[in-house]
Amino acid sequence: MSFVTRIARHTIPKIARNQCRVFTNGVPRLSKKQIEITFVKHDGTQIKTKGDVGDHFLNVVIKNNINLDGYGACEGTLTCSTCHLIFKQEDYDKLPEEPEGEEVDMLELARDVTDTSRLGCQVCLTESMDGIVVRVPEVVNDLRLPSTS
Ligand code: FES
Repeated sequence: MSFVTRIARHTIPKIARNQCRVFTNGVPRLSKKQIEITFVKHDGTQIKTKGDVGDHFLNVVIKNNINLDGYGACEGTLTCSTCHLIFKQEDYDKLPEEPEGEEVDMLELARDVTDTSRLGCQVCLTESMDGIVVRVPEVVNDLRLPSTS
């Protein structure tokens, strides 16, 4: 971990890091661009929905009242890993940022992690993600709860 990363990790409040970076030209937009997203549950059930560009996947689930058991338990404060999503390799490769810091720590403790796993509360929607399909693991691990094993 670089010196800058270590400093940022300890000095930038969690809530600030949990926001999607949106760059604007100062002119307010009347409506947000929306993209289509499909969540695929472990049993193959597909949930098609829309999300605002700039929101993260957790907000899409919340705003659309999508029933994913236990999803987003810590509300994006990077303490649970229940927002674990698995991306297709080609989509993962196009994500604007790689996981770092606390997200990596949380992913290491999540269940059924893959090389293309991310936490939905840390990945923001971009226009190029329109039509994206993400898998929701069968088992989520709420790291805030005591282990039962
Ligand atoms: S919602 Fe808890 S880590 Fe993402």
